[in-house]
Amino acid sequence: MEQTLILIKPDGVKRKLSGKILSRFEDKGMKVVAMKMLILSKKEAEKHYAVHKDKPFFNGLVSYIISGPIVAAILEGTNCISITRTLCGSTDGSKAQPGTIRGDFSMGIEKNIIHASDSVESFQYEWPIYFSREEIIEYSSGD
Ligand code: CMP
Repeated sequence: MEQTLILIKPDGVKRKLSGKILSRFEDKGMKVVAMKMLILSKKEAEKHYAVHKDKPFFNGLVSYIISGPIVAAILEGTNCISITRTLCGSTDGSKAQPGTIRGDFSMGIEKNIIHASDSVESFQYEWPIYFSREEIIEYSSGD
């Protein structure tokens, strides 16, 4: 079964949207198999966003993601990487479709509420920054 990583970013946590956001994935039928709240270190943030290290927005992105608590979760379900990205909406909240998480809750591209892995390769790179293998719980959700 496919898995993906989501991060509810500091703007989402501060605006008390974590429960609402997680509900969207659970309501869709995805299973939460790991979850925690944490504040990323600069080193961890730079590792997560290493693919963007040459972009002009890299330093701002790192400063922002370490600016407060985030919620990290691993979701499981058929095709959950692409379904999760669809539920999140376009990266830029000001352009994201209403009905998507960013379309409903974000006005910008940096403070865009949520991150979700964009491929199996990204998921494999990202999840160990947040979880140990033991923290991913296998259980039956009765589906
Ligand atoms: P995320 O899905 O976490 O992946 C990379 C992040 O970089 C993205 O969400 C945005 O928050 C951020 N980002 C992408 N493009 C820009 C940009 N032009 N300016 C500022 N931040 C950006």
